[in-house]
Amino acid sequence: MATTPPSALVVWKPPAGFGLGVMLHREPFQCSISVLNDPPELDEPTAQTSLAEVAATALRVADARLGLATTVHPLQAAAAGDAAASAGPISAAEPMMLAATVRTDVGVIWASPSYVRAAITGNVGSAILPGVESTRRGFLSSAGLTGLGATTAAAGVLLTGADQAQAAPAARAGNSVAFHGAHQAGIATPAQEHLQFAALDMVSESRADLRDLLRTWSRAAALMAIGSVIGPVETGSKPAVDTGEALGLRAASLTMTFGFGPSLFGSGGNRFGLAGQRPAPLVDLPAFRNDALKASISGGDLGVQVCASDPQVAFHAVHELIRLASPVARPRWLLAGFGRTGNSRTQSMPRNLMGFFDGTENIMVEDAAVMKKSVWAAGPASPAWMHGGSYLVARRIEIELGKWDRTGVSDQETTIGRRKSTGNVLGSIPLHAHILLASPGANNGAKILRRGYSYLDGIDQALGAPAAGLMFLCYQRDPRSQFIPIQRQLAARDSLNKFIRHIGSAVFACPPGASAGGYVGEALLG
Ligand code: HEM
Repeated sequence: MATTPPSALVVWKPPAGFGLGVMLHREPFQCSISVLNDPPELDEPTAQTSLAEVAATALRVADARLGLATTVHPLQAAAAGDAAASAGPISAAEPMMLAATVRTDVGVIWASPSYVRAAITGNVGSAILPGVESTRRGFLSSAGLTGLGATTAAAGVLLTGADQAQAAPAARAGNSVAFHGAHQAGIATPAQEHLQFAALDMVSESRADLRDLLRTWSRAAALMAIGSVIGPVETGSKPAVDTGEALGLRAASLTMTFGFGPSLFGSGGNRFGLAGQRPAPLVDLPAFRNDALKASISGGDLGVQVCASDPQVAFHAVHELIRLASPVARPRWLLAGFGRTGNSRTQSMPRNLMGFFDGTENIMVEDAAVMKKSVWAAGPASPAWMHGGSYLVARRIEIELGKWDRTGVSDQETTIGRRKSTGNVLGSIPLHAHILLASPGANNGAKILRRGYSYLDGIDQALGAPAAGLMFLCYQRDPRSQFIPIQRQLAARDSLNKFIRHIGSAVFACPPGASAGGYVGEALLG
């Protein structure tokens, strides 16, 4: 058979027991399954067993049998199962199939009975599956579903009938980042290329609505993170549950990171009864020198950072999250970004809109010890519900590109403190250079994880120039001893100030990650 290494573990549900196999990808339109257990020998689930449990068990068995201990992470198993968790009890009558890819991907495959039959009868050999593309899975069924509760339940519904075999799509998610885990995805994740950042305000004043929104968002995010739609796309005369613009696209390392702004805890009245639980580090940022903040692009009760390697996948996610929030919350501001700040040893160092490498001296997400010390919230400053979370400061910083472009390169270099072409530190750094004033040495050792993106937002009418700049995003353990003192120092003396203006500002407490079946913010909202 194929010499290609196995790309997915496959679990399916024939009428009795469970099947376990390895999926081999060969061509884009063909894949085959090697059946590992014949007859199926996994424990027979009860009617109450969730697919999440089945997936986790099956992957554990496969793990032991194939010696994949280092490649199949329990979180991947959980994520694979989670997309199906809301399917509820298993129907023994319906064959089902789950797959978690062996390396970095996690995928869930929903197969038609004919596919499963073909795979099973192929037994230790292989079953060729024609017409299956390795792309985002879609639910093309037109079950008339409304509301997310119904749609996520539908996400576990198997496409039935041989005629749907062609619609039964997709073998792999393509670089997915697990939504569930100790920390939210999108913080220690090496920065993807594209950003959509949304800040929303609660319209409802009901704590139950807030809790339901976080639950709904978490469920939808777990599905989108593995490249799944959040519900049916073809719904006849009814509006689609999933808007469909990401159909056919892969998971694209999509991450969605949720945060709570100070206003949620009571700056605007104790709407949700959360005033007593506001974390001390979640301060309202003080006014800094030269701030030119606009209220319309600042603040927000809720912040959502969406990042992906595909701009349309990022758009789809923010689009769906905003739709799902309505009418409980409405968007306050929204910004698309591109061109990440470097923060990982696994990636090349990118340049920002000023033409300089950005991220050279950043925290690298692989440095667990530094992440623990400087990024992850912990006691005693943070309450228990924030442990393992992080505080995000977002600043929209406009860059006066015309002025910068007219500046000689040696002046640009003394402004930053580094050579433009190589990124090397200058032999002698002027006292007001950006990197000197921002460095830990000048700030009591304070370090932040920068995870910003460049943006272009049309024309700045006042300047008659592109309204472009840096959506500066940084994560930290406590803004009071990290972002705030660094920015105070930069605002007062940084040479870069001649070329930049802070026009938007927000701060969010991003709780720890959710476990499979849980939701982000659960420890706060119950
Ligand atoms: C438009 C605004 C900004 C631009 C264009 C910019 C650009 C840069 C560049 C080119 C570097 C050198 C390369 C590197 O080490 O990454 C740098 C370093 C750095 N920047 Fe910024 N930056 C901006 C705003 C900020 C702000 C608001 C902060 C924090 C409050 C900040 C914090 C830092 C830090 C901590 C470093 C590393 C310093 C070191 O230890 O060498 N930057 N920035």
